[in-house]
Amino acid sequence: MTARHEADPLSHRSVLLDLAVELVVVRPDGRYIDGTFGRGGHSRLMLESLSGDGRLLGIDKDPEAIAVARALAEGDSRFSWFHGSFAEIDQAATVAGWDRVDGVLLDLGVSSPQLDDPERGFSFLRDGPLDMRMNPQQSPSAAEWLATAEEREIADVIWRYGEERFSRRIARQVVARRQEAPIQTTRELAALVSDAVPKKDKHKHPATRTFQAIRMHINRELEDLEQGLSAAAQRLSPGGRLVVISFHSLEDRLVKRFMRDLARGPKIPKGIPVTADQERSAFRLASKAIRASDEEVRDNVRARSAVMRVLERVYND
Ligand SMILES: C[S@@+](CC[C@H](N)C(=O)[O-])C[C@H]1O[C@@H](n2cnc3c(N)ncnc32)[C@H](O)[C@@H]1O
Repeated sequence: MTARHEADPLSHRSVLLDLAVELVVVRPDGRYIDGTFGRGGHSRLMLESLSGDGRLLGIDKDPEAIAVARALAEGDSRFSWFHGSFAEIDQAATVAGWDRVDGVLLDLGVSSPQLDDPERGFSFLRDGPLDMRMNPQQSPSAAEWLATAEEREIADVIWRYGEERFSRRIARQVVARRQEAPIQTTRELAALVSDAVPKKDKHKHPATRTFQAIRMHINRELEDLEQGLSAAAQRLSPGGRLVVISFHSLEDRLVKRFMRDLARGPKIPKGIPVTADQERSAFRLASKAIRASDEEVRDNVRARSAVMRVLERVYND
């Protein structure tokens, strides 16, 4: 971990910082999007790699991240910000007046400041309102959703996004409990899940999977990722790169398949005559999957599950 992060223990520790920036910034005078600005660890390093003509647009759903981005923009005219989802890359690029971009970086998931602030309700380790929204201006919060969703939907979400084998029991408990009183705090939900799970994993809090699943559902994380990947790839100039860092196997699977399919090129049914041009792919995988070094994992436990993948546009479609 660099001194940059040691200075403020609450600030987000940027995983695979230097390499990600090296891979995404293909030319110093290009146009770039950091789709997950966070506290700007990657953005600041990208700006250091850009010349006076380079431009960077930072996107985040979280108003607290955007407050940091706004301050950065005041001090650096090469940087601008967009409050919204990276699923809206098209809209953000249009607002910036950009047709094509030279690189897009996505460092997925929640940031350390989000996890560490009990008021945001992301963590079962800290008691606070059961919120979990990256953008608190959007509804519903986790508490609102748990108060109204059907038992079956709750079970499905916990199973699909948390791969929690006791999802049905947990959903049943949620519905039983809310008939007495609404579930409003992280501690209440963590205790309920802990009671509902009959077999506990030694190395994991019993609520880990459930919290992760509800967070992914509330923030539409996989839906946004799917849309964001397509929009980003379409916007890339030849030579431009999409760099994605995932922390969750469901995210990484989606990223891996998306990049692999684009790099393979169009699926043309057998027997249809095509020219070499029609068969070739407009994209290539610029690298194999990259994981954090042992040193980075020692310094930052979050890096252990990080996987970085890089797609490059070779030609225009
Ligand atoms: C892991 S942190 C990124 C940290 C950042 N790279 C840094 O160096 O500070 C993820 C950030 O992305 C934001 N985020 C997650 N999904 C998003 C989405 N679909 N659209 C926009 N922002 C998103 C979160 O609010 C959070 O601030």
